[in-house]
Amino acid sequence: MKIGTYYYPEQWPREQWERDFDTIATMGLQVVHMGEFAWFDLEPSPGEFRLDWLDECVGLAAKRKLGVILCTPTAAPPIWLVEKHPEVLPVDENGRRGRFGGRRHYNPTSPALHEAAKRVVTALAERFGDYPAVIGWQIDNEYCGPFDQSEQTHAAFGKWLKKRYGTVQELNKAWGCQFWNTYYTDFSQILMPASRDPKYGNPHQRLDASRFWSQAFAAFNRVQTDVLRPRIGGRFITTNFMSMHLDANPADFAGDFTMSTWDQYAVAGNEKDVKDETYRIADPAAVGLVHDQMASYHEGKWGVMELQPGQVNWSGVPVLLYPGAVRLWLWTAFAHGAEFVTTYRFRQPRFGIELFHHGLVGPDGVTASPGGRQFTQTTQEMKRLDLSKVPAVSEEREPGRTVGLVFDFEQLWYYETLPQARRWDQARWLRTWYGAITRLGLKVRILHPGKPWPLDLPMIVAPGLQMVDRKAVETFTDYAIGGGHLVLTCRTALMDCTGQLFEGPLAEPIVPLIGGMIEGYDGLPDGQLAQVEMDGKKYAWGVWGDLLYAEPDTRVLAKYADQFYAGAAAVIQRKHDRGLVTYCGVYGEAAFVEALVERLAGQTKLATTALPARSQLLRRGPYHVFLNYQDVGVAAPAGKNAKFLVGARRVEPAGVAVWEE
Ligand code: GAL
Repeated sequence: MKIGTYYYPEQWPREQWERDFDTIATMGLQVVHMGEFAWFDLEPSPGEFRLDWLDECVGLAAKRKLGVILCTPTAAPPIWLVEKHPEVLPVDENGRRGRFGGRRHYNPTSPALHEAAKRVVTALAERFGDYPAVIGWQIDNEYCGPFDQSEQTHAAFGKWLKKRYGTVQELNKAWGCQFWNTYYTDFSQILMPASRDPKYGNPHQRLDASRFWSQAFAAFNRVQTDVLRPRIGGRFITTNFMSMHLDANPADFAGDFTMSTWDQYAVAGNEKDVKDETYRIADPAAVGLVHDQMASYHEGKWGVMELQPGQVNWSGVPVLLYPGAVRLWLWTAFAHGAEFVTTYRFRQPRFGIELFHHGLVGPDGVTASPGGRQFTQTTQEMKRLDLSKVPAVSEEREPGRTVGLVFDFEQLWYYETLPQARRWDQARWLRTWYGAITRLGLKVRILHPGKPWPLDLPMIVAPGLQMVDRKAVETFTDYAIGGGHLVLTCRTALMDCTGQLFEGPLAEPIVPLIGGMIEGYDGLPDGQLAQVEMDGKKYAWGVWGDLLYAEPDTRVLAKYADQFYAGAAAVIQRKHDRGLVTYCGVYGEAAFVEALVERLAGQTKLATTALPARSQLLRRGPYHVFLNYQDVGVAAPAGKNAKFLVGARRVEPAGVAVWEE
């Protein structure tokens, strides 16, 4: 795994460049990342390119054997573009045009933007495409932005819908327009909604708007990848996604990229009622889940583009990181198979909105921050490993130690638009299952509903897959009949992919699979918890609880322990030929899901290792990597003869241990 950093030479005096590149190299870094946001400096007026400064910097990097990731600068359209083509600026709900003076001030559907982007990316690709020092390209920066309200976007949405539905009658059907007589008679009448919140309007329209918006960014992205691909040889192309950010579904971009990467900002002080200092270290499930999600789009090729190096400026809570946390995150990325990790950013800026954002060095450009020291420490430690013995993630298959977790980005959109229970948090639900699986020393492999599932995985969990098509249900069935253990949860298969309920009993397509009926469901008021009982122990739940009837051949694994329906089934299990289906009807708190997963993993004979809470154990080739996200020390789950390469048997708070045995 390569380790590196963003550097913005255009933000620093030229006479400091040599020194800065020296420092980057002597800190042990191998990659430097440049050009992001530098559109004006690269093209000060339309078609006038000044690439020499970047060329010089690529040369300075190459001299120090640093690999360069070049970034297209399109997240910061220059003043001349917005002056000449104000229509590139986004338009809000009140018809007001956005203004110049920050970043991301563009509407991805604007043809003038596409044209200008194409020109600058072509110039960059033609100049730097075959430079040996350049190892890959990052397009734009963190695709996101509110639903644009310009005429251009309304028209583009209409065109997209026409392609999807063919006729306006089909659209009326898909959107349920008989409800309140909201029929359209022409695609040109349809407006892009202002947000995902239906405000008591049409939820199906909002779902399609979410799809369209992500694809609008993907289409803008494609303008750039189409320019780059033929000019850059086999170098990688990617962008830096944000974790579960709703504006950009990585699946919409996957075909245009050769790997997926994301920006990990795991400590921002957003926790409530903290009882210890783990909020300074991050939630290992939140980090691991997105790592494994990124790995799922390109057969294990993924990376971290921005790894938080220290305090951030944007959360309003300048939490100091726990000593060692940055090193822990670097090792976590390695353990999950990252190709590289880079950080935002090398030098803390002296000016601009992010001047309080930590870098690897302070604003003086020479004094390493605590995060910077940990970057150096980790690059040194990694030298103790023989990386030639570490296979690519895609080759590292351990089915007996791996659980499939089905992740479908589209579900996030509809839960946002139509939550029904406002306590339902789909990302948290996924994290809860992820945490429960990895706590047993098992690896998670992220699967997508439309893609084939590896049938050798003994257990696959699909939490909250509310919208399904026929193919998804067939995949469920084939897997369970074929001998797998399929775990479904409440809010599965309630709807088709337009977001309309099936005509039939609740979750009709899976009724035969789960071997029971869903009589109804309950959701408790904010802050309230009730109890569910399994194996004589009681656990808390509050978000959602299906009241289930089990058929005679179906086992009941857990029941509600209070409320007027005490005794109703909450978790049921049905045998199918060689396979098994467990239906968990309750959105339980973490302790319940952990107990259930432990029980199910035992039944499935997975090779588990009981780990301390908030820890992960992963294998890369011959190496065991243990990651402690607790603020207390714990013992590494290593055998007697373990030979420690990094850390020791006693793993300090926010510590790491790597051993062979
Ligand atoms: C990221 C962004 C960076 C920088 C950073 C600050 O979201 O991609 O450019 O703004 O946040 O934490």
